[in-house]
Amino acid sequence: MDLAAFRALEPLCWRAPSAHNTQPWRLRYERWAITVGWDPADTLPAGDPSGRDLRLSLGAFVETCLIVAADAGLRLDWVADHDEHDRRVGRLRPARQPYRTPFRTSDVWDRRTDRGRFTGGPDVDVLAAVDAVARRAGGGVRLVPRAGRLGALLRAADRQVYADPAVVAELRRWLRLDPARPDYRADGLSDRCLGLSRPAATGLRAALAAYPVLRPLGLPRLLAAGDDPLARGGAVLALVAPPDLDAPGQVEFGRVLMRVWLTLHAAGLAAHPLSQLVDVAATRDTLGALLDVAPQRVVHVTRVGRPVAAAPRSARRIRDGNVRKTCSSLLDDRRLIHESPYGLM
Ligand SMILES: Cc1cc2nc3c(=O)[nH]c(=O)nc-3n(C[C@H](O)[C@H](O)[C@H](O)COP(=O)(O)O)c2cc1C
Repeated sequence: MDLAAFRALEPLCWRAPSAHNTQPWRLRYERWAITVGWDPADTLPAGDPSGRDLRLSLGAFVETCLIVAADAGLRLDWVADHDEHDRRVGRLRPARQPYRTPFRTSDVWDRRTDRGRFTGGPDVDVLAAVDAVARRAGGGVRLVPRAGRLGALLRAADRQVYADPAVVAELRRWLRLDPARPDYRADGLSDRCLGLSRPAATGLRAALAAYPVLRPLGLPRLLAAGDDPLARGGAVLALVAPPDLDAPGQVEFGRVLMRVWLTLHAAGLAAHPLSQLVDVAATRDTLGALLDVAPQRVVHVTRVGRPVAAAPRSARRIRDGNVRKTCSSLLDDRRLIHESPYGLM
């Protein structure tokens, strides 16, 4: 019964974050459980060759499913059961009680990545709260000291990312710079979400189209110098995992990441991930040294702060017209129903 009822909530669960907004998760409804797996077509083999961000995104999705189900009074819990061959991470299955969480569907709905300007970073209480969330899973959240080096590190990471033709081709595949195309409202990174003006979006599209010619002429350096997120304020936080985190552990840490982001959201803060710092071995090593932890333990880095203005909502592939009805019957949250621009997604 709870499994069948969950199906109608799926569009809300798809509000989970994913790297490049690829939405890699897939649900398989079985008699006694719902298997959570992934579609390789929606992974990032060039930019995320180890699958770390894939597994963090899948974990974030699992946590989102549990929150949305619990808020609707559905009794589901999670059993991890990682199988690369079957492309699954585990199952949602019926439980005696709803999942215990301080978060609500409205938090899931309202949270968004914010790449804009921040007025300030997290205070000591918020830092302690997110650190406590990660500590309960054997990790921690650490403030990355700015001390001048972080900007240079970020530029070095960006340069390396933009120098790799396969990574750039993959980024191009997920960029959504043309509002006239139907996939603009389905997935990927839109010009609006990236905070690009129309001329900037046109310029980026042209630069990436000419990439093979311009790359030897220094385009990667130019692209890396073109944006300075640290100048837009906030503090930089690192999510530190326990040593020797395996693939199922990374999925579990995706759940932790989601709880961290929702804790920040509840405090009026937003996150802007800077994954390139972790993707590039050299900058990850430096981060590890700055934080005095083994570099492999740094699984995610993000700029955090109080947004100056609300960020645009990102697109999702699943748009179920029935979700409005589902929300009004299952969720007593008038604000959610009122604000949900399902027509826009
Ligand atoms: C594991 C992970 C890594 C991410 N890395 C980046 C990143 O390096 N830069 C960035 O701007 N956004 C990053 N994001 C944010 C996604 O692009 C974002 O979640 C997605 O576009 C959906 O938007 P939303 O978070 O507003 O729902 C990351 C998200 C996840 C879950």
